[in-house]
Amino acid sequence: MGFSSVLVPLVLFVVHVSAVDEEPVLPFSEYLDQGSTIMLRWGFDTLKDTIVFEVRANTTGWVGFGFSPNGGMNGADMVIGGVDTNGFYFTDRHGVGNSLPPLDLQQDYKLLALTESDGQTVMKLQRSIRSCDEDDLPITEMPIKLIYAYGQSDDISYHRRQRGTKEVNLLKYMPQAKISDSKYFDLTMTNFSVPAKSTHYHCKIMRLPEFDQKYHIYRVEPLLDNPDLVHHMLLYQCPPTVATPYEHTCYTVENITKCNHAMAAWGVGGGAFELPEVAGIPIGGDGGKHLYRLELHYNNVNETSGVIDNSGFRFYYTAQLRQHDAAVLQTGLVVDPRYAIPPKAPGFLSYGLCDTTSIPQVLSEPTHDLQVFSVMLHTHLAGRKMRVGHFRDGEQIDFLITNEHYDFEYQQAANLGETKTVKMGDKLLVECTYNTSNRSRLTRMGLSTTDEMCMAFLYYYPAMNISHCISFPDLQALSTKMGVNNEKEWLRLMSTKTWNEMSVNDYQETLKRIQQYAIVVTASDNASYSTRTIPELKTTPPVTCEGNRSEVMRLAVSLWLFVVLTAASALT
Ligand SMILES: *[C@@H]1O[C@H](CO)[C@@H](O)[C@H](O)[C@H]1NC(C)=O
Ligand SMILES: *[C@@H]1O[C@H](CO)[C@@H](O)[C@H](O)[C@H]1NC(C)=O
Ligand SMILES: *[C@@H]1O[C@H](CO)[C@@H](O)[C@H](O)[C@H]1NC(C)=O
Ligand SMILES: *[C@@H]1O[C@H](CO)[C@@H](O)[C@H](O)[C@H]1NC(C)=O
Repeated sequence: MGFSSVLVPLVLFVVHVSAVDEEPVLPFSEYLDQGSTIMLRWGFDTLKDTIVFEVRANTTGWVGFGFSPNGGMNGADMVIGGVDTNGFYFTDRHGVGNSLPPLDLQQDYKLLALTESDGQTVMKLQRSIRSCDEDDLPITEMPIKLIYAYGQSDDISYHRRQRGTKEVNLLKYMPQAKISDSKYFDLTMTNFSVPAKSTHYHCKIMRLPEFDQKYHIYRVEPLLDNPDLVHHMLLYQCPPTVATPYEHTCYTVENITKCNHAMAAWGVGGGAFELPEVAGIPIGGDGGKHLYRLELHYNNVNETSGVIDNSGFRFYYTAQLRQHDAAVLQTGLVVDPRYAIPPKAPGFLSYGLCDTTSIPQVLSEPTHDLQVFSVMLHTHLAGRKMRVGHFRDGEQIDFLITNEHYDFEYQQAANLGETKTVKMGDKLLVECTYNTSNRSRLTRMGLSTTDEMCMAFLYYYPAMNISHCISFPDLQALSTKMGVNNEKEWLRLMSTKTWNEMSVNDYQETLKRIQQYAIVVTASDNASYSTRTIPELKTTPPVTCEGNRSEVMRLAVSLWLFVVLTAASALT
């Protein structure tokens, strides 16, 4: 068989496969070596169980990339590819000692593109996040050792090659940009005397330092003076009508709630947060007209007295403005104690709806799609699962994020594996699952960690002046359905009712079925109210390796490759 007759169908075949796949956005990147000659970009979708890599190496020879348990070749999982005079080659291999890594019997990597130009080889590939083959390594939420190697020619030999290893947490990646003009400022409490109470929310309304021009904040670090007491911290922008700095217990004076446009959020267990290269949170350039509210939730369970606290945020900023302004949008369920979760419920479902249709109606400026790149999920102690469904034209098209093992002690903002586009008109449904099995009384939506919340903070760009996109069930409709005359009677009945599996389910279903007030609030505190219903959320799809691979096609690829490689080795 002639060489070219093998290659032509192979090339056509691969082009066909990558054209069918939607072009994924690869939000993360790292140089794998000191000399910046080999760059890795990647992005992933945990629901589909896929991860896409683009390896860019300054060579016209072969390129190897993979994963290793200890950085060496033994037990390593890798691909080797390149472009040669006859076309290209790409194979899934595994390391056994320091010899040429043998081919895996099962070829699990899918080649999306392989090109060579300007002395650079670019290889784009996709695989399952987990391992589908004993010759492959699973990718987990822990750092993993990436290995790379490349040769000067297309002869895959051990000698005269560049190689190295770098440890990266692929699924929980936080960038660390090198910024030459980096500066920072802190916004913290000053010698705040934490009350000897189990729950305390302290709010401090303050000015930012003065800025001569617009800057972009690119990194937010928590400054934790009492890590055992600080449960969460939020920074909100105030509207221009709030013009005097002051401190007060939160949510006890009317004017505090006016500052409600979230700018930064940190939750217990989280670390520093860094924005993607394309976006920054804007500061300055507005004549310093805004004040900011720093909110700290102190969870002082032992009711310790005499603690002085100076916790807050450190913001790193740069004058090298990024392409987009980033912002935070709060979605989920309104925090209102009239919403209660019954006791003895092992999996109670609550819903908060964000209907973006209302956004253009409350904003005077033009609106646009939200490019969501990170989400911080927030519940209190009874939260067990959280999911954010994404709907377009009445159909659920995706989940923005899911967390089937929600951990109250770990509330880091999670970078999505890909930037997700929420179009104006789309709906987002925040679902929270609570377990109140070991509780004997109602759990109300409220501020204490023994109360509940159901919120998702979306980090997105380009920024718009909206602060909340939330909902709350119509309590009059609820009362009627529950067989009482009004809200007051229902609230009374709810706390005296004997709850059992049937009554819990009935209440949960009713809450979901009745109409909801969908609320959109702008940064300047304009609100729009409309009535909506809760759409049906799909079950989280199970991930299977088979779902990711298309057997027949894959077999065809490996067969062709086998033929090509055999032919290639026969020729050399
Ligand atoms: C790698 O190649 C690219 C494209 O040819 C070039 O711009 C870059 O400077 C090279 N990097 C190094 C470290 O040689
Ligand atoms: C905070 O307390 C420390 C220690 O008592 C003191 O040195 C400092 O001056 C205080 N800061 C302010 C702003 O009051
Ligand atoms: C807000 O309310 C507090 C307490 O009532 C008051 O001390 C403060 O001056 C008010 N601030 C503004 C900006 O209205
Ligand atoms: C709910 O919590 C109880 C008590 O902590 C526990 O025994 C039970 O397994 C939990 N149920 C679910 C469905 O998580």
